[in-house]
Amino acid sequence: MLALDDVWTRLPTAAGPLSAVRGVSLDLYSNETVGLVGESGSGKSMLGRTILNILPDGARVSGSIRYQGKDVRADPRAANGWRGVEIAMIFQNPMTSLNPVRTIGKQIIDPIRHHLGLAQREAADRAMDLLNQVGVSAARQRLGQYPHELSGGMRQRVAIAIALSCDPKVLIADEPTTALDVTVQKQVLDLMESLQERFRMAILLITHDLGVVAGRADRVAVMYAGEIVEMAQTADLFAQMQHPYTRALLDSVPRLDDPPHVRRPSLAGRPPNLALPLVGCPFQPRCANQQPDCAVEVPALVSVPECSRSFSCHHPVGVHGTVVGGEGRAGHAAAE
Ligand SMILES: Nc1ncnc2c1ncn2[C@@H]1O[C@H](COP(=O)(O)OP(=O)(O)OP(=O)(O)O)[C@@H](O)[C@H]1O
Ligand SMILES: [Mg+2]
Repeated sequence: MLALDDVWTRLPTAAGPLSAVRGVSLDLYSNETVGLVGESGSGKSMLGRTILNILPDGARVSGSIRYQGKDVRADPRAANGWRGVEIAMIFQNPMTSLNPVRTIGKQIIDPIRHHLGLAQREAADRAMDLLNQVGVSAARQRLGQYPHELSGGMRQRVAIAIALSCDPKVLIADEPTTALDVTVQKQVLDLMESLQERFRMAILLITHDLGVVAGRADRVAVMYAGEIVEMAQTADLFAQMQHPYTRALLDSVPRLDDPPHVRRPSLAGRPPNLALPLVGCPFQPRCANQQPDCAVEVPALVSVPECSRSFSCHHPVGVHGTVVGGEGRAGHAAAE
C-alpha cells in the first residue's frame, strides 16, 4: 500500500535545518498494522505528517513515498484526491486538526459528500453512524456543535470519525487513543480493527503505549533520532530484541510481576540534537553496550530475512547478551 524509501524531512529552525526524519524506509501492506514507537521527539509525528505533506512552512522532504505504486510527492492528483482521504491521518492533538469555526457536522459531512458522492441526508446518516461507533453520545446534536463545545475526549473521537469517514486504505493514527479512557480506547481500537478487516486497511499506529502495540500491531518499528533503528514482527520483537535502545524502551515498562515499590530503570540522557551533524551511532552516548567503533561509524541497517527483522547496531544485545537498562524478563530472554 505504502512504500517509503530513504525519506528525509528537514525542518527550518533558528539553529539551522533540523533533520526530524533521517532516511526512513518502510513498507506498509494492506490489512496490516505497524506500530511505531520511540520516545518523545524521535520523529514519529513528523514521519506521519511527511506522508501526508502536512509540514511546517519551509520543510524540505527527500526520498520516495509511494502509495499503490504512485509517487505521492510528484502526482498532482495526490493533493486534492487521495492524499488525506485514501491515506487519512488521526492527529495527535485533535484541537489543531479540527476547524474551530465550522460545526462538527460540516467537518464530517462535507468530505463524505465530496469524496463518496452521497446526498446530504445519506452523508448525515453516515456521519451519525460513525460518531456512534466511536462512542460520541447524542450524535445528532453534536453535528450542530463547534469543537470548543466538546470535551477533549469527544474532540478526539470526532477526529477519529472524520479520518475514518471515507474508508481510507491507509490510516496513520498518531496517538489516537491517548486522551481516551480505557473502555473507549478499546472501542476505538476495535473499530479500527473491524474497518481494517472490512476494507483491508493498512494502519501505521503511532503510540507510546507498548501494551497497545503488543496487542494490536503485526509488526513494530522502533524510532530513535529520526531513524528506524529496529523493526520486527511484534511477537519476535518482544521475545528478543537486538538494538540496545529497544531493550531499554521495553525494560522501562512496568510489569505485573515486578516486586512492589521497585522502580523500573529509566533511560538516562537525552536524544541527540537533530539540528547538528551526527557522527557515529546516534544512540552511542546513552548506550550501555557501546564500543569504540560506535562513536565513529554509523551502523548500517542489517536485515535478518529468515525472521523478517532489521536493526542498525554494531553490537546488538541479542548476540552479545549484555543487559542494558535493567533486568526485565525481556532482557533475560535477549541475554540468553
Ligand atoms: N514545527 C517544528 N519546527 C521545528 N522542529 C520541530 C517542529 N515540530 C517538531 N520539531 C522537532 O522535530 C523532531 C521530531 O518531532 P516529532 O513531533 O515528530 O516527535 P514525536 O516522536 O512525535 O514525539 P511525541 O512522542 O512527543 O509526539 C523533534 O526534535 C522536534 O523538536
Ligand atoms: Mg508525536
